[in-house]
Amino acid sequence: MATAVTAAVSFPSSKPASLPSITSIISPERITLKKVPVYCRDVSVGGRVVSVRAQVTTEAPAKVVKISKKDDEGVVVNKFKPKTPYTGRCLLNTKITGDDAPGETWHMVFSTEGEVPYREGQSIGVIADGVDKNGKPHKLRLYSIASSALGDFGDSKTVSLCVKRLVYTNDKGELVKGVCSNFLCDLKPGAEVKITGPVGKEMLMPKDPNATIIMLATGTGIAPFRSFLWKMFFEKHENYKFNGLAWLFLGVPTSSSLLYKEEFEKMKEKVPDNFRLDFAVSREQTNEKGEKMYIQTRMAQYAEELWELLKKDNTYIYMCGLKGMEKGIDDIMVSLAAKDGIDWSEYKRELKKAEQWNVEVY
Ligand SMILES: Cc1cc2nc3c(=O)[nH]c(=O)nc-3n(C[C@H](O)[C@H](O)[C@H](O)COP(=O)(O)OP(=O)(O)OC[C@H]3O[C@@H](n4cnc5c(N)ncnc54)[C@H](O)[C@@H]3O)c2cc1C
Ligand SMILES: NC(=O)c1ccc[n+]([C@@H]2O[C@H](COP(=O)([O-])OP(=O)(O)OC[C@H]3O[C@@H](n4cnc5c(N)ncnc54)[C@H](OP(=O)(O)O)[C@@H]3O)[C@@H](O)[C@H]2O)c1
Repeated sequence: MATAVTAAVSFPSSKPASLPSITSIISPERITLKKVPVYCRDVSVGGRVVSVRAQVTTEAPAKVVKISKKDDEGVVVNKFKPKTPYTGRCLLNTKITGDDAPGETWHMVFSTEGEVPYREGQSIGVIADGVDKNGKPHKLRLYSIASSALGDFGDSKTVSLCVKRLVYTNDKGELVKGVCSNFLCDLKPGAEVKITGPVGKEMLMPKDPNATIIMLATGTGIAPFRSFLWKMFFEKHENYKFNGLAWLFLGVPTSSSLLYKEEFEKMKEKVPDNFRLDFAVSREQTNEKGEKMYIQTRMAQYAEELWELLKKDNTYIYMCGLKGMEKGIDDIMVSLAAKDGIDWSEYKRELKKAEQWNVEVY
């Protein structure tokens, strides 16, 4: 009945982690009956809850009719627009990369008082204080939400981000600081922050609690997956109990830039059968050929297994982070599919249509 966080780890929170209860919309459960599994699913249709049953035999797996995650009732988009943003407050802001890491990444929590109702996988916009070189207010920048819908304090009243401080040297040799990322990484507790959104439906989680969810992240692309994984493994929900397989691949430059490592390791300890975790540390690890360990290099070590998983219609791939990763991952898929005489681009198109291939890279 009540919803409760079962573990909150490595997170510098001083608030208690008790959660309010939430109402169930869809509650699937599996009943095993004489070796023939029967899937019962309560589906909300026009406000009524209808029980749908599908009997699955081992010979011919029945296709379960999927409800598009994008049609889910209650997914809010663009509640707050740039001209009328929500003003939250920074509750905490902490650097989560080591001092010797190339670049800084910060984890920050903002108050929303429940006014910015988001789902796992959505993003918010942030408008930095100040004006641009033309004297106009800064344009918003998008950031993937790094907390579950319940938020890091479990009260549905906060939203968290994972932000990399952008600093680079331009052609003239000058040090340039990115406007919004520096604004955010420098925010002190108590400071105000202008929030827009929430936005985005591409990265919403699949509904099937028995799904295989493969998450591919580079750097701060980890944000939506922290959000997924908290919901799956650190929280209790009346209407959702994850019982499938979550497999996270995270690519970072150095071990000192591994984001949320302790949290993920805690999850692994807690649910070893439901969670797999693989890191690709590009500047410290190589494969057997001596090649740099990018996320796709690590994935290639499990190529056959990943390909078999991709043939199941309840396997969902999510990709987030650097734009360059998409091509690297496509390249390994092309050759795997070709072994089975399958054209990868066509296959990927079908996966996308079925919401099994979800990409948000930038
Ligand atoms: C959907 C989405 C989600 C995102 N989620 C996150 C997230 O979770 N965390 C996160 O940290 N970021 C995220 N981003 C990126 C974020 O929106 C900003 O783009 C980023 O923080 C930089 O903004 P800024 O204002 O600091 O930099 P700006 O002041 O906007 O400067 C960026 C500009 O600087 C220039 N530039 C950048 N690097 C270099 C370089 N090396 N050499 C020369 N010029 C350069 C480019 O012109 C670039 O457009 C996301 C982006 C999108 C679209
Ligand atoms: N929703 C979204 O669209 C979203 C959300 C969050 C973040 N982002 C974006 O994601 C990016 C993350 O950057 P970051 O600075 O946080 O990451 P980072 O800490 O620099 O880590 C990125 C990792 O990816 C590696 N890499 C570089 N090129 C690659 C390629 N072609 N294929 C696979 N791996 C590659 C890097 O290796 P080397 O550096 O050693 O080469 C490094 O190990 C940012 O551009 C951010 O804006 C987008």
